[in-house]
Amino acid sequence: MKIIHLNQIDSTNAYLIRENTEYDDMTFVETDYQTNGKGRENRTWLAQRGENSMFSILIKDKQLVEDYAALSILAALLVRNYLSSYVMDKVTIKWPNDVYVGDKKICGILLQGKIPAYLVIGIGINVNQKEFVGEYRATPTSLYLETNQIFDLAKFNKGLFIYIDEHLDLFKNGLYNPINEIRKYNYLKGKKTQYGVVVDINDDFSLKVEKEDGSTVDIQSGEISY
Ligand code: BTN
Repeated sequence: MKIIHLNQIDSTNAYLIRENTEYDDMTFVETDYQTNGKGRENRTWLAQRGENSMFSILIKDKQLVEDYAALSILAALLVRNYLSSYVMDKVTIKWPNDVYVGDKKICGILLQGKIPAYLVIGIGINVNQKEFVGEYRATPTSLYLETNQIFDLAKFNKGLFIYIDEHLDLFKNGLYNPINEIRKYNYLKGKKTQYGVVVDINDDFSLKVEKEDGSTVDIQSGEISY
């Protein structure tokens, strides 16, 4: 694992995509501020300077890159587990890869890359932000708003990077099977979505939904509204 700190950058994802040939597998790039932070579906990711955790991980291991559906939800699970040691309220995963505290979003994840060459996992976690002004698709929250405490971001990130690094290694070596935890913390379970009622997450990490006529469909990816 290698960690690079940048005071400011357009986007840590865009940076690693540009520089992918320069860095090795498991390079973490963190920043204090993004001038052009990217969210899913062409949205922007906004965060005030120095308040939140924003980083990207470069993955070059062939097996992991090709298993990107697993990697996407596994990243959400690892953030969920790490955050649950700080927050009393229920921390869950909103399929495919958001992390929620109660009914509010605390973390978003954006996977980009060129399969099979490399993958960039971009993670944004609201840590010390006190106010969220403007329009948000999902109501945001932060660790500060949940706990009334300010966290040391450098320490927070370091602990999280070590946790992620260890668990991706275990997963790659077949020593960590996250499917039961992923099912246990499925925020959407039992909720009515535009596709029907969410039943479960399948072994291939797709979402199992029951339609009104009782038949089931598997959703492979995409935005879920409920
Ligand atoms: C989403 O919920 O829409 C995904 C948000 C992902 C944000 C992170 S912040 C670090 C990394 N760099 C980016 O430009 N985006 C991701």
